[in-house]
Amino acid sequence: MRKLTVILLALAAASFLLAGTVFSGETAKKAKHEYVGAKKCKTCHKDKHAAWSETGHAKAFSLLSEEEQKKPECVKCHSTGTKADGTLIENVECEACHGPGSDYKSPKIMSKKKWKADPETHKKMALEAGLVMPTEEVCVKCHTKEGNANFKEFKFAERKDKVHPVKAKEGK
Ligand code: HEC
Ligand code: HEC
Ligand code: HEC
Ligand code: HEC
Repeated sequence: MRKLTVILLALAAASFLLAGTVFSGETAKKAKHEYVGAKKCKTCHKDKHAAWSETGHAKAFSLLSEEEQKKPECVKCHSTGTKADGTLIENVECEACHGPGSDYKSPKIMSKKKWKADPETHKKMALEAGLVMPTEEVCVKCHTKEGNANFKEFKFAERKDKVHPVKAKEGK
């Protein structure tokens, strides 16, 4: 029974994501990139991961009751997407904003050494491999009144620095 619920939920979430490519806001081109989960990003982005873990996004799924966690109409904004194996990625993880990372996370692209040697080329490669540098458009897919009884006013400029506040270093 539980297994069936999990499968149904995964299917529902997958069809939601496909239906509108709602969160990536892009076309079929991106559909081939898979979600991998924040643990993969943590390997290299420890500080960002630690900062994100402290935010509401990292706990968004637990705001839902057990019943609501089975409802696609709630899950869609309180989760990230499904991995290739069908597992739901709960909470609003890195890839909900930065796009599914199976391809851009590759050390051929996101390598400290290579990136530093030629940042422009590697940034371009990452974007071509599905990386999204989020603008307001990405946020308002979820931060909207539609289907969201808990909507609060959303000001991108005020909120964007709260998503993973890491102390600025070298002016960045
Ligand atoms: C193999 C290590 C590695 C993995 C895994 C990895 N990254 Fe990166 N990432 C880097 C490096 C190195 C850079 C280059 C810029 C830097 O040093 O921060 C980078 C750059 C980025 C940038 C652009 C930064 C900029 O300055 O333009 C984003 C956004 C990003 N990564 C997100 C992610 C996300 C999300 C994941 C997980 C899906 C991920 N990365 C996985 C190492 C990695
Ligand atoms: C997949 C849906 C989704 C996306 C995309 C999304 N958010 Fe959120 N956001 C949520 C949910 C759900 C909450 C409520 C979390 C809570 O209250 O614990 C939230 C809460 C927040 C909060 C309050 C966090 C806290 O610690 O209380 C900030 C700030 C925020 N979002 C900023 C952004 C910004 C900026 C973007 C775009 C770059 C964005 N969000 C994209 C779903 C999303
Ligand atoms: C369109 C996206 C979206 C949908 C659909 C959605 N939520 Fe949310 N939910 C959010 C966002 C965004 C926030 C954070 C509000 C903010 O900080 O602006 C949130 C916050 C919440 C909160 C925290 C409220 C608070 O005041 O701290 C609860 C509880 C919640 N949602 C439950 C649900 C339930 C139950 C459903 C399904 C009936 C649902 N949500 C559907 C986006 C959504
Ligand atoms: C709620 C949306 C959201 C989530 C979740 C999120 N990010 Fe970001 N991220 C952003 C925004 C917005 C920027 C700034 C983009 C810009 O400046 O153009 C950013 C920038 C970055 C950068 C570039 C360096 C910087 O500080 O500008 C890296 C690297 C990065 N994020 C990694 C991650 C990783 C790793 C995770 C998960 C642990 C994550 N992000 C989760 C929205 C998000």
